[in-house]
Amino acid sequence: MTVTIKFQKPDGTPIASFPGEATMWISQTAKNHGIDFPTSCGVGACWVCRCKILSWHEYIQIDKISPPMRTLERNEDGSFKEFFACIGWVTQEAVKDKANHDVILEKNM
Ligand code: FES
Repeated sequence: MTVTIKFQKPDGTPIASFPGEATMWISQTAKNHGIDFPTSCGVGACWVCRCKILSWHEYIQIDKISPPMRTLERNEDGSFKEFFACIGWVTQEAVKDKANHDVILEKNM
C-alpha cells in the first residue's frame, strides 16, 4: 500500500490516518479503522460526508456506476477539489504506485 489517507480539520488539526484502499469507499475504510466518520444517504446527495481534497486530488475517484447526485467543485485539470467519501475511493493507479503518497482530506468532524 502506497497511499495514506489523512483527515484533518479546517484549522489543520489531524483527525485520523489510515491506509487507502482502491476497493472500498473512503468513508467505509475510515469506519473499518475505528473512525466515527459521518455519513447519511450513502449516494452523494446529502453533503454529510463531503471532504475537501488538499493533496493528490488526482488519486481520488468517484463511483462511476453511482455518480454523485450533486455537483462537486473541480480543478482546472478536471480532477475533484472536493468529493463525497461515501462514493469516493483511491484509484488503482495510486495503490500500484511504488512511491508513498499522503492524500490529505479536510473534514469538519
Ligand atoms: S453520506 Fe450523503 S453525500 Fe455521502
